[in-house]
Amino acid sequence: MRIKDCNNTADFRRLAKKRLPAPLFHYIDGGSDDEITLRRNTEAFDKVRLIPNVLADLSAMDLSVKVLGQDIEWPVFCSPTGMSRLFHHHGERAVCRAAHKAGTMYTLSTLSTVSIEEIAALTPGPKCFQLYIHKDRGLSYAFIERCKEAKFSSLCLTVDTLVAGNRERDLITGMVMPPKFTLSSMLSFMLHPSWALHFLMSEKFQLANVAGQIEAGTGKLTSVIDYINSQFDRSITWKDAEQAIQAWGGPFAIKGAMSVEDARRAVDIGASAIMISNHGGRQLDGSTAPFDQLAAIVDAVGDKIEVILDGGVRRGTHVLKALAMGARACMVGRAYLYALAAGGQPAVERALDRLRQEVERDMILMGCSSVSELNRSKLQFD
Ligand SMILES: Cc1cc2nc3c(=O)[nH]c(=O)nc-3n(C[C@H](O)[C@H](O)[C@H](O)COP(=O)(O)O)c2cc1C
Repeated sequence: MRIKDCNNTADFRRLAKKRLPAPLFHYIDGGSDDEITLRRNTEAFDKVRLIPNVLADLSAMDLSVKVLGQDIEWPVFCSPTGMSRLFHHHGERAVCRAAHKAGTMYTLSTLSTVSIEEIAALTPGPKCFQLYIHKDRGLSYAFIERCKEAKFSSLCLTVDTLVAGNRERDLITGMVMPPKFTLSSMLSFMLHPSWALHFLMSEKFQLANVAGQIEAGTGKLTSVIDYINSQFDRSITWKDAEQAIQAWGGPFAIKGAMSVEDARRAVDIGASAIMISNHGGRQLDGSTAPFDQLAAIVDAVGDKIEVILDGGVRRGTHVLKALAMGARACMVGRAYLYALAAGGQPAVERALDRLRQEVERDMILMGCSSVSELNRSKLQFD
């Protein structure tokens, strides 16, 4: 199987599984506990069906939306994912460049292996920075200042990761960062010589935004779970989120709020957007899916704040269903990460292009020439 044989997220996932050592594949693919929420995130889209209209003059299409102050060419952008260099030596650079080529926005994780400044200079495209509030508050506020300096277009604060989810696949595979070449993992690394060679020959693994400030960022061996549990501040409240919004002074999203109450609080503190998300099923297992919460949140705050859906999106029709339900846009994580692992930047470009083509084709099949025509009358419920 080659990149050009990959036509959808499932194909890229299969190729990623072949190309990555097991600890890394399972780190991307897995969820928490019994992975019920992970599965539910995608299955939730099946509970509604699309109702197409016909003969609607679809000679000109407009898929563009404005999200977090930026015009993007189609209603999907990249979720933040940490440590991308583990999955391919092109890492975050590949995804950022591919997002720009695809006419959409890139979101850089706090836990990236390329720095805020380097990503800012890489493309002229819109960029969001994802903030985790560390116990070292000075470090967290320094991120905001660095993003201002580097001219990021927006910020999002992830609020669902005060403690790491129970990702049991990582316990079984012994996933640590940077990867450890132990006897038990050696076989898996040996079976993937191309990945191992690139990892060892290219630049040193580090959490580029915290390097030099936190020991774990400097390449010292640690588990992701230990990093989150030791560094992230569990005492943060809505007051802290409000202060971060004020310190930033531009478009700002709360990522990981799932309840109507929290969506209302996000409005109260002056957030520009809420990203309905359960971290791709990696945190609280048994929690509801973003798509399941979308209608209630749109009805409560959709006229006051941008509502963005994050989690489970694998197909163009998922995007159409979310937009018809009232989302401003969707975010994707694994849909581009599998591609990154499968083949670096060219594969991410193909994955985003294929998804964009799906969205456009599905819009035509729905009889809609603009995303503004998608609404709940286009959905059938049980
Ligand atoms: C490997 C991996 C790493 C992630 N790292 C981060 C991160 O650093 N910060 C964050 O806010 N979310 C992170 N997420 C969650 C994504 O931003 C996003 O919420 C999730 O992937 C959406 O679900 P999807 O993969 O089904 O699209 C990560 C997800 C994955 C799969």
